[in-house]
Amino acid sequence: MQTTITNSVKIAADFVKKGEVAAFPTETVYGIGANAYDEKAVKKIFKAKGRPADNPLIVHIARKKDISVLAKEITPSAKKIISEFFPGPVTVILKKNEIVPDVVTAGLDTIAIRMPASKIARELIKLSGVPIAAPSANLSGSPSPTNFIHVLRDMRNKIPCVLVGPAARYGLESTVIDCTGKYPVILRPGNITLEQIRKLDMNAVYQKRVGKVKSPGQKYKHYSPKAKVKFVKRETSNVKRKKEAYIGLTKKFAKGFEVTKVCRSIEDYAKNLFSFFRVCDEIGIKTIYCEKVSEKGIGAAIMNRLNKAIINQ
Ligand code: TXA
Ligand code: MG
Repeated sequence: MQTTITNSVKIAADFVKKGEVAAFPTETVYGIGANAYDEKAVKKIFKAKGRPADNPLIVHIARKKDISVLAKEITPSAKKIISEFFPGPVTVILKKNEIVPDVVTAGLDTIAIRMPASKIARELIKLSGVPIAAPSANLSGSPSPTNFIHVLRDMRNKIPCVLVGPAARYGLESTVIDCTGKYPVILRPGNITLEQIRKLDMNAVYQKRVGKVKSPGQKYKHYSPKAKVKFVKRETSNVKRKKEAYIGLTKKFAKGFEVTKVCRSIEDYAKNLFSFFRVCDEIGIKTIYCEKVSEKGIGAAIMNRLNKAIINQ
């Protein structure tokens, strides 16, 4: 399949309108999208990614009023989050309406809804004239793409269109929050933090993966580079560490590594993590040592992605 690489939102929207898929930028990571109401089009997303059919997609909207078309009821906990953080790097889970095909939600009676802050993403949704179902634009199992080069690596010749835009501002996927209950439950941590959600509702919790999996995506291999991922031990040495890389916040831990990324802040760490994983794979790094961070604020999202990368190898 030939892939049209374009910076025209209109051209990308034309693909979506005719039942095709198009990759597009958002502020979190790049996505691959299709008309959420078109079952056949949505199936093409699963095929291109090699994604298991029981892992539901997020439906992206450009106007808040579309939430009540997609969802049965906007709960009080969802209302607060939507009014504070939409558009932005956050996804709410609500009971779904019949209009949404089962393939989108993997047969669940709930739907994940997100209104991206990215103007290009919203313009694409507007011009397409329909909500866009979209997972991250990586092959299933590899790190999410944070720029269009990553998307081309994984998706060239697998999808008909890649809409080129800026690199992702945040670099980690959105915070996924189950709003079907009395209080918000964070299923996947992201840039909108538990602390921020607790300011809206003090009962909000972060449900780490234990027992029954609420967010189906949490059970799958994810975010993993080909290189082994380990936590860096807090020690320094001058020994040359060939084919080993370091990413973290602390300069002195970087000593001796062949490739290093010392991040300026926790936000910078989040933003660079996935692209660093990809760079390391390109140049044949065997082991990536990552610095642990405290699970406060965005630290919870970084530790979630690191733990998954470690577990999955
Ligand atoms: O930032 C993002 O969220 C990006 C951009 C493209 O918007 N999208 C993204 O999609 O990360 P994806 O498919 O890679 O991750 C969606 C997550 C998965 O863990 C999935 O299981 C969960 O959301 N999810 C989707 N629908 C759900 C539902 N009804 N109930 C619980 N979890 C759901
Ligand atoms: Mg994904």
